[in-house]
Amino acid sequence: MTSGIDDLPTALSAPVTGSTRRPPGPRLPAVVQTLLFAQYRHRLFPYLKRRHGDVFTLRLTAPTRHLVILTRQEDIRTVFGGPVEVLHAGEGNAIMGPALGEHSVLLTDEAEHRRSRRLLMPAFTGAALAGYREMVGELTRAEVESWPEGTVFGSHERMQALTLEVILQVVFGVTDEARLRRMRPLVRGIADIGPVTLLGLPYPLLARFGPWRRHIGLQRRLDELLYAEIGRRRRAADLHSRTDVLSRLLQAAQTEEAGGGFSDAELRDQLITLLLAGHETTATGLAWALHELVRRPEQLRRAQRAADEGDDAYLTAVAKEALRLKPVVYEVARQLTQPLTVGGYRLPAGATVMPAIGMVQSDPAYHDQPDRFRPERFLDGQPPANTWIPFGGGARRCIGAGFALLEATVALREVLRRYEIRPDRPAPERQKAHHVTLIPSRGARLVVSRRR
Ligand code: HEM
Repeated sequence: MTSGIDDLPTALSAPVTGSTRRPPGPRLPAVVQTLLFAQYRHRLFPYLKRRHGDVFTLRLTAPTRHLVILTRQEDIRTVFGGPVEVLHAGEGNAIMGPALGEHSVLLTDEAEHRRSRRLLMPAFTGAALAGYREMVGELTRAEVESWPEGTVFGSHERMQALTLEVILQVVFGVTDEARLRRMRPLVRGIADIGPVTLLGLPYPLLARFGPWRRHIGLQRRLDELLYAEIGRRRRAADLHSRTDVLSRLLQAAQTEEAGGGFSDAELRDQLITLLLAGHETTATGLAWALHELVRRPEQLRRAQRAADEGDDAYLTAVAKEALRLKPVVYEVARQLTQPLTVGGYRLPAGATVMPAIGMVQSDPAYHDQPDRFRPERFLDGQPPANTWIPFGGGARRCIGAGFALLEATVALREVLRRYEIRPDRPAPERQKAHHVTLIPSRGARLVVSRRR
């Protein structure tokens, strides 16, 4: 695949607006830029913006050769508000294909993507979310009750355990203890997939070795369980009174007009997608929320009061502010299928544009004192459009945004009601790249003690 940026003159036969130069960028070898991007994007982008301006280019080795990074509100609006026929996201995610399955909403574009979103949405409406609340609360209480008192522990790991349980019980709707026991290790293994395993999965030759063999084995066993679960659920007499995500998807399908709902194979791919998109991200967002809160005594006291009084608005504001200051996902990507003018540049088909979530969310032009953790900013008003985008935007905005905020609000309430919390040390933890997320470098370590 060529980036297209090298082919600018031929790509631009139509009348154009904007400069036909490539946006400026570092001259380092592509392999160095790739490594810097993979490991240090949260430091690299601010540096490149200072050096090259609001729009800059990175040159990578693979799979996308040229990235055009966008840090301004208006350029991000162009991308999120632009035509979905021109701005594809599925191709950029293709690397995850063998793990997610070809029908995954993350991998498709245009009509097929629209259909998947339409079929998934009924499980993520406000009414549906309200139905998940009680179960999320129960699972959170069970998790939080097990926390050790008076000793240092990593809250990130505990939140991973919680969000995994939420996926199993609230998303997949599995509550039978014997089935849960079989699924847990498989789901944990699948969710833990790293880039090396991911990149090697399409090659049949590798399937006989090490991590690939292990992953394929896990996937096969989990698929068997998921197909059995889907079959059982389709036949369940109580399907219409069930309030888990899978059941809601099946209920919606039964009321669908011609065309029907998801097939079993499609459902399997969407469930794996919800697992991979919703588990680690939510756990990381929660870990950052605790990390920030324990270092701000005034906000911690206010949050504790909010938890006691059932004031969800403040707790949701805490979660939102953590996602602003410490975005779990630092950037999103769209690949151009046709030339498009963005940020004053006429970019050719094949170029990848990348709204930089972390940059726009820390820009003083849009956020007062952006380095301060101040949940109040979400109570006083809302940030300008396209400047708080932890869930991306436009037609691809995260389907689970409301679900994640619900989980975070409930979890904060249960933790703060029970415990006094403090960090293991005052110094903040660094942001560390872990696959597509930025996690707290030491696991968001805490010490908790029961409140009197
Ligand atoms: C704090 C937690 C989360 C964060 C930060 C997050 C972030 C994101 C981002 C940045 C995207 C890409 C949006 C874009 O390209 O514009 C995305 C997509 C997606 N997310 Fe989330 N997410 C979170 C939780 C969840 C949860 C809980 C679920 C489901 C249970 C979920 C399901 C999805 C799906 C299915 C997509 C693909 C949407 C599409 O391509 O149309 N996410 N998420």
